[in-house]
Amino acid sequence: MRIAKPPLRTSVVHGCRVLGDAGLRITGYPSGPTLVRGVEAMCDRDGRPVELRRGIVAICRCEHSRITPFCDGTHRFVPGFDEPSGREPRAMDGRS
Ligand code: FES
Repeated sequence: MRIAKPPLRTSVVHGCRVLGDAGLRITGYPSGPTLVRGVEAMCDRDGRPVELRRGIVAICRCEHSRITPFCDGTHRFVPGFDEPSGREPRAMDGRS
């Protein structure tokens, strides 16, 4: 008997293609990166495969990271980017 694998989902987050199963969750943080949970594979903005160490990645939104496409915390020093917005993190994959 053959067991079917769950379908994989693909999303594009800030130009990066992420691939995961039904557990793929994308959450945008108003004053920080976009967290993607449940990632199984990923390509950067140029389509090159990215080595993943964990199933969760923080993708840079401010475009000032030195380890792009990942967030390195530099957004905290980008004027106007890390100001408290009062907004809550937002699911970007249609889930709440
Ligand atoms: S969002 Fe964190 S370094 Fe860009």
